[in-house]
Amino acid sequence: MVRKDKKHDETIATHAGRRPLENHGVVNPPVYHASTIVFPTLEEFDGRINNRDQPGQVVYGLGGTPTTFALEQAMTELEGSYGCIVLPSGLAAVAMAILAFVKSGDHVLMVDSAYEPSRVFCDNVLSGLGVDVTYYDPMLAVGIEGLIKPNTRIIYLESPGSLTFEVQDVPALVRAAHEKGLKVLLDNTWATPVYFKAFEIGVDVCIHAGTKYIAGHSDVMSGLITTTEECYAPLRQTALAFGQCAGPDDTYMVLRGLRTLPTRLRQHEKQGLAVAKWLQQRPEVARVLHPALPDCPGHDIWRRDFLGASSLFGVVLKNFPRHAVAALLDGLQVFAMGASWGGFESLLMPAYPQKLRTAAPWPREGPLLRVHVGLENTQDLITDLEQGLARLNKESKARSTE
Ligand SMILES: Cc1ncc(COP(=O)(O)O)c(C=O)c1O
Repeated sequence: MVRKDKKHDETIATHAGRRPLENHGVVNPPVYHASTIVFPTLEEFDGRINNRDQPGQVVYGLGGTPTTFALEQAMTELEGSYGCIVLPSGLAAVAMAILAFVKSGDHVLMVDSAYEPSRVFCDNVLSGLGVDVTYYDPMLAVGIEGLIKPNTRIIYLESPGSLTFEVQDVPALVRAAHEKGLKVLLDNTWATPVYFKAFEIGVDVCIHAGTKYIAGHSDVMSGLITTTEECYAPLRQTALAFGQCAGPDDTYMVLRGLRTLPTRLRQHEKQGLAVAKWLQQRPEVARVLHPALPDCPGHDIWRRDFLGASSLFGVVLKNFPRHAVAALLDGLQVFAMGASWGGFESLLMPAYPQKLRTAAPWPREGPLLRVHVGLENTQDLITDLEQGLARLNKESKARSTE
C-alpha cells in the first residue's frame, strides 16, 4: 500500500540526500575527501566519538563523510529502511551483512541459487570461522522450518537468483524466520528498492550490489546495506571493525546513478521483456527464465510481490554443442560478453549453475545464457541475437555433417 505522505520513488530518487540551499544553491552534494576530522572542543570530540555507530556522525574518514551520508540518506528513503551502510563492493556488503549476525558455532541457511562469490564466502570463510552453512532449495517456502536448527541465526535469500532466476516466497520465509527469532537477509540487487519493497514485507537487512542498476553505468564498484533499526548497530560496528570504507568519488558516482534509477529501470524492463518474448518464440530456445514470464520458477510469486522486473534473465538453449554456442557469442556486434549487469549496455554470457548447486541440482538441459538488456535500440538488439542464432545453427549443422 502506498502511504499518502510518502513521495513516489522518482521524486525520492531525485531529491533525497541533498540540500542545495545549505550548500550555496549547488544542486549536488559536494565530494568530501577526508581522513582526518578535527573537533573544536573536548565535549564535541567525546560526544561524536561515543556516537560513532549512529547514522551521520563525522568522526574519522573510515566512518564516512557528508558525501557518504547523502547516499545513505537517499537509499534509506528509497528503500523505506531505517538506515544504510555504504561499502566498497556488493560482495563486501554480502560478507559484512552475514558476519554481523554470526559467530563460531552458529548456523546459516543459504539459498542454493545465490551469486557464486556469496557461496564461496560461505564455503571458505564462514566454514573456517566455525559457522555451519546449509544450502536450501530456492523454491522452499514453509518447508524451510524443517531446516532451522537451535543454532540457526539467519536465513539468506537472493530473489530472484542471479543465474537461474527462481523467485523466492519472501513473505513465507520471513514468517518462518521471525517465528524462531532469526534474521532475514535478502540480496535485492535484481529488483532494486524500486521493484521490491523488502521492508514492507518484513525483511531485516537488504544487500545491494550498487555496482549494478543503482550506479547503472558500469564504471564503479559499490555495496549498500539497508537495514531495520534493530539491525543497524551490529552492521555498522562490523563494517567499521573490518575497516570497510567506500571512496568519496565512487560514492558520489553511485548517488549520481541513483537519481535516474526508477526512470532507467522502466526502460530496461520494457526492452528486457521485448527481447525475452522474442527469444521465447525462437526454435533454438528451450526456456526463457524471466521472472515476468510464466516459464520462470516462482513467476506467480513475482506477480504477487514485485512491482516490476529488471532486465536480467536467463535463456536455456536446446541441446547445442559448445562450439555452436561459441559461434553465437564470439560474433556479437551490439551485445558484449561480460560477467556484470545493470549498466546501460547489453551483455550476454554463458552460465554454469550445475557446477554450483547442491540442495536443488540444476537439471541437465541445454546451455544456459544470461542476458542483460541495456538501453540500446530493441530492434538492434534483436537483430544481433538473430544473427547470433543463425551462426549457432550454421556451426551446429556444419560440424554434425563433418
Ligand atoms: C546478485 C549479486 N549480488 C552481489 C554481487 C556482488 O557485487 P560486486 O560485484 O559489486 O561485488 C553481484 C555481482 O555480480 C551479484 O550479481
